[in-house]
Amino acid sequence: MIEFVNQVFAIHGETYSCLLGLTAAGQLEQLYFGRPVATADAEAFRVRPGLGWGTAVLLQEGDTASCPDVWPLAWSGSGRGDYRESPIQLECSTDLRYESHEILEGDALMEQGLPQALGAEQTLVITMSQPGLRCKLYFAAFPGVLTRRTVLENTGEESVTVGKLMSFSMDLPGRWEMTTFHGGWIAEMNGETRPVGRTRLVNESTTGFSSNRHNPGFLLSRPGAAEEAGEVIGINLVYSGNHYASAQLSHQELTRVMQGISPDHFHWPLQPGEKLETPEAVLCYSAAGFGGQSAQMHDFVNHHIVPAPWQGKARPVLYNSWEGCMFDFDQRKLLRLAREAKSLGCELFVLDDGWFGKRNDDTSSLGDYTVNRKKLPGGLTGLARKIGDMGMDFGLWVEPESVNPDSDLYRAHPDWVLTDDFAPVLSRNQLLLDLTRPEVRDYIVEQVSAVLDSARITYVKWDMNRHSVALGAKAHAYILGLYDVQRRIFTPRPHILLENCASGGNRFDLGMLCFGPQIWCSDNTDPIQRLTIQGNLSQLYPQSTFGTHVSAAPHAQTLRNTPLVTRGNVSFFGCLGYELDLRHLLELEKQEIRQQITFYKQYRETFQFGRFGRIPDGWQVQKEGVTVAGQFRTLVPAAPGYGWLQLRGLESGKRYHLTSRQQKLRIGQFGALVKHVAPVDLNPNGLVLRTADRHITLPDGAQELTATGAALMAGIPMLPPFRGTGYDQNQRTLTDFGSELFIIEEETSHEKP
Ligand code: DGJ
Repeated sequence: MIEFVNQVFAIHGETYSCLLGLTAAGQLEQLYFGRPVATADAEAFRVRPGLGWGTAVLLQEGDTASCPDVWPLAWSGSGRGDYRESPIQLECSTDLRYESHEILEGDALMEQGLPQALGAEQTLVITMSQPGLRCKLYFAAFPGVLTRRTVLENTGEESVTVGKLMSFSMDLPGRWEMTTFHGGWIAEMNGETRPVGRTRLVNESTTGFSSNRHNPGFLLSRPGAAEEAGEVIGINLVYSGNHYASAQLSHQELTRVMQGISPDHFHWPLQPGEKLETPEAVLCYSAAGFGGQSAQMHDFVNHHIVPAPWQGKARPVLYNSWEGCMFDFDQRKLLRLAREAKSLGCELFVLDDGWFGKRNDDTSSLGDYTVNRKKLPGGLTGLARKIGDMGMDFGLWVEPESVNPDSDLYRAHPDWVLTDDFAPVLSRNQLLLDLTRPEVRDYIVEQVSAVLDSARITYVKWDMNRHSVALGAKAHAYILGLYDVQRRIFTPRPHILLENCASGGNRFDLGMLCFGPQIWCSDNTDPIQRLTIQGNLSQLYPQSTFGTHVSAAPHAQTLRNTPLVTRGNVSFFGCLGYELDLRHLLELEKQEIRQQITFYKQYRETFQFGRFGRIPDGWQVQKEGVTVAGQFRTLVPAAPGYGWLQLRGLESGKRYHLTSRQQKLRIGQFGALVKHVAPVDLNPNGLVLRTADRHITLPDGAQELTATGAALMAGIPMLPPFRGTGYDQNQRTLTDFGSELFIIEEETSHEKP
């Protein structure tokens, strides 16, 4: 609910309140942002500057309350006495003052092509102005999230160049810590937490994209905040280009935080009458710790960001050809893989890179989306039909933003690529098409639409594999071009499940999620690395947005050998897929995969849309009385002590039935130890044991018990682990990188208490 009472703007969501005031001079005060309070509390939150701070600039001589430098503000300017970081930079000073406001029911729609969250309850628009400029500040109220954005209009008679225009700026009381997520290819989403001090902390991307280097999403938390307690604010941007966020503590102990398009090389001319609209920033406050924040943020993304046709819609278990085949395939091989995938339980077969032009490696053909008839004599139509006849859907990889110099497209239109003043530099042998040009966008829309309509295609993986050379304003125009192209291709085809990808997670952001509900998290499918990637992504994005695949071990990216069971257990916490050569799997591996897929389908809604939580050593998901928890090991210590399972979010007084998912042990994992229990002397490298390893498994310890929610949340001991004293069916024989899964279901009333 939004109201304007006694010169106070009050925005009340289910989990937060935001109170804004007006100074005597008409600047916008940030009175409060935090847990729900009453509008009438506004006065209690007003700071009192007393005699002021010495030499600070006063807008009204003698009135220490007119000192912009010390005031908690929800917007500021530059050159007029507030010497903290300004959210706006023009060639002139800015001193925007309140002019008017309106409270709209529902959403205020964007006008310049940026995506936005939809389904706001109400939107507050506060208009600030100074001679020649009008600035509208938008505050949209969602139940667990407040979004903000800015629109600047040139109302003067001269052109104005915008160097910086943030989506929001806000001063929060006291001290916070800032957690950001950085990385690179196959190493996305490493977390780093630092106290916000007097030196400015900046989280910024300048590669042209939201980037794997610095995800736009970040957290502010109070020192000492934990999973279930303490104040945490999740902040993110509905944008896929260069971004900037900063946090800095002022001398008056106010933390100024802001976010928007990166000002790096940004020069956006505004002619008289023109406007510039910023992307929408998302602010998600929780007083219930990191878990409380992520649950609210997940709800918001699931209900207000991802395209409506995919909200809450179960995602298929897919098979993707990339890691298993790379460029080396033909129709026969694909159909064999598809038959295998179908027999394992996959529902969608995705043909990745290599199906067009002369693309037998990554040196050529990007841009030429003509089917390679040598590989696929029946074209996509024939292949999709055959796969459809098997009872599976068909999906396709495209990389429409890029072009190889060795392509017909480049030979025909060398001027269509994004360039700077130097000779083009390649990355993965490719250049980017200049999406700021309408004719280039039209070409992409036509080409991709024709491909998508040429066969029964229900899924698209849209890839992008190089950094941009576009700087500042051009980089922003490129992203607007990308949104235009995806909107024109996918809005008329709502049946297509779009998974965006950029060398893995190089564009994991809320902007892309407005077009496709899933993003490929990383080219790294090693489950141990995925614990970091998916675990940290979960702070800001729901697991329904994660593409999570089981691949071969040793892993292509780390050479680590991990158990198949762990590859499954980690991939379950997302949208499950398989990406390995199925032709060479052992029968017992196929059996395991079959069981994984059956299990996943049984709990699919819980894994994809359940409430996600971080528990000691693992994760849990919860939906409608069912909890599935995973615990993951890295290295096994010698003679380990007891292990404990501690769950969250259960009802204390209710009784629950806990079972562990039955796991099997390969004989080979015991190596030479087998000879101690075998009646004959066996060579650990001999044929008998090698053959036995391919066919025989032993059951690992499985737990079953009932307990109250209170007991399960207090933590229960698990079965004893392997301690070097032999195999026992009543212990858990976890090796390095082992893991376990537990299913916890509410007991129905007729069961024994
Ligand atoms: C990079 C992607 O991240 C991979 O999954 C794969 O699609 C390759 N591109 C194909 O070239």
